[in-house]
Amino acid sequence: DWNSGNVIAEQVERIREQVGDARVISALSGGVDSAVSTALVHKAIGDQLTAVFVDHGLLRQGEREQVEKDYVASTGVRLITVDAADTFLGHLAGVTDPEEKRKIIGREFIRAFEKVQRELVDEAKAEGAPIKFLVQGTLYPDVVESGGGTGTANIKSHHNVGGLPDDLDFALIEPLRTLFKDEVRAIGRELGIPEAIVGRQPFPGPGLGIRIIGEVTRERLDILREADAIAREELTAAGLDGEIWQCPVVLLADVRSVGVQGDGRTYGHPVVLRPVSSEDAMTADWTRLPYDVLSKISNRITNEVRDINRVVLDVTSKPPGTIEWE
Ligand code: XMP
Repeated sequence: DWNSGNVIAEQVERIREQVGDARVISALSGGVDSAVSTALVHKAIGDQLTAVFVDHGLLRQGEREQVEKDYVASTGVRLITVDAADTFLGHLAGVTDPEEKRKIIGREFIRAFEKVQRELVDEAKAEGAPIKFLVQGTLYPDVVESGGGTGTANIKSHHNVGGLPDDLDFALIEPLRTLFKDEVRAIGRELGIPEAIVGRQPFPGPGLGIRIIGEVTRERLDILREADAIAREELTAAGLDGEIWQCPVVLLADVRSVGVQGDGRTYGHPVVLRPVSSEDAMTADWTRLPYDVLSKISNRITNEVRDINRVVLDVTSKPPGTIEWE
């Protein structure tokens, strides 16, 4: 029967067999799935693994620090961070279509990875070991939702952790492929990954890029990042993290509405709170958050975040709505 210790031992064995003495690269997104799959592979093959974290400028507040400090400290993983915000935002300029955004982000991920792959090959030349293995934190629901399990249509192009498409020139190591989120979290705890990462709510690979309805710009990202941080802080403070699956905060960047603040009229943007309860993200219900928590979040966001003068609540289940707005 299921036990995280057994799964770890079994996967460590399997990964060693698959990899031999080859070098391996891993895409860390800051999310649970890539954190756990990377730690698992690290346990199996140690410094044969290099983890790569691409900072695409679409991250939430504190995410990069969490990976570079807390995650590295607890796992001992060798980490390379790629600073790619300028590149990603440059390519996203003027783009508003959701699938187009995903495509660009996915493509830029490959480019960032191929660059790292070339550089690491150079570094390893003495051993002559080209890197052909890539770790991905694909979970069972990802497999199913992408049509891999049931032949269902691919509703949104589902790039796994970090937005990597499947046509990379790598052999994939996917140690979580048969597991659900709660099982992955149990394994992560067993591996000693900090609770702040293991307990994290899911966050899409394309990041805040698909939570800005309209063009993605640096200024809009800053606004959304602040609003998102406030919502997360208040939900955590209210002890609600266990109750919600995730709570996207969405910036309606092309919508403005009239408001009043102090003596002045404002003409700012709304943000949408999208708290959902779910088992596996395939279906979801909107979470009935307490009114006092909603009120606190709304007051803080409208008071503290420049250009946001309205907070609205999404009360749609999935289906018919998806969890994300794009
Ligand atoms: P939807 O919006 O399809 O989301 O109901 C289901 C779950 O998947 C996440 N999601 C993504 N994750 N790349 C990802 O890695 C993506 O492009 C992507 N789109 C949605 C979403 O946050 C939710 O947990």
